[in-house]
Amino acid sequence: MLKIDVVTIFPDMFDNIIEFGVLKKAFKKNICQLNIYNLRDFSNYKYGRVDDRPYGGGPGMILMPEPIDNAITFIKKKNKIKKKEKQKTILLSPGGEKLNQNKLKYLSNLENIILICGRYEGVDQRVIDSLIDFEISIGDYVLTGGEIPAMVIIDGAIRLLPGVVGKEESLKSESFEDNLLDYPQYTRPPVFKGMDVPKILLSGNHKDIQKWRKEKSLEITRIKRPDLIDKDG
Ligand SMILES: C[S@@+](CC[C@H](N)C(=O)[O-])C[C@H]1O[C@@H](n2cnc3c(N)ncnc32)[C@H](O)[C@@H]1O
Repeated sequence: MLKIDVVTIFPDMFDNIIEFGVLKKAFKKNICQLNIYNLRDFSNYKYGRVDDRPYGGGPGMILMPEPIDNAITFIKKKNKIKKKEKQKTILLSPGGEKLNQNKLKYLSNLENIILICGRYEGVDQRVIDSLIDFEISIGDYVLTGGEIPAMVIIDGAIRLLPGVVGKEESLKSESFEDNLLDYPQYTRPPVFKGMDVPKILLSGNHKDIQKWRKEKSLEITRIKRPDLIDKDG
């Protein structure tokens, strides 16, 4: 079972994320577990303070190291993961490694993911130097906090767990498998605003349909994301 632990100053933001769709089913089936921790509960300072001004001056506030350290220590003690390589502590950060489907696959194979959500101007560098296995960014832009990036990881990693998405083939034929984007999909009605569904999809010939889909995947990837094809030369 994959255990995901999140440390945040806004735990309520996570209230509903496992209440819908395949994620809801995954939690019902006990395929994964999600625990949300309020960073303030791990503060040794008055009124649950977790931030302070940056040394050297400058705008904004920085998350202090001790509450984050306390939270990670607590989570690790509670989870008792024996194989250290199966437990990773990750800081969400715009400067981190860019998230992609391969990283989600790697994460979905762990036993425990501990996600630390930054806020304000970020976290004290000593957290990164001593407590974090790696940093992950969800893209080259800056958000107000790590909570939405953490939700992206939770959603993307959980749907890769065996038994979460109905048919395993639907994972295999999706965008980014084999460095290709998905082929075009159609459903009823057969004619919409004068546009027909491609005849081949109505032919019942599965071999030809597979071939057509592969060709379309290649064509679409060449047009929209040639960088994916170039990746492997
Ligand atoms: C306002 S941001 C801090 C930005 C930081 N001062 C910088 O310039 O890189 C506050 C927090 O939001 C989260 N965050 C913002 N953008 C992100 C992104 N693209 N990917 C992952 N986390 C992000 C991080 O946890 C970060 O510590």
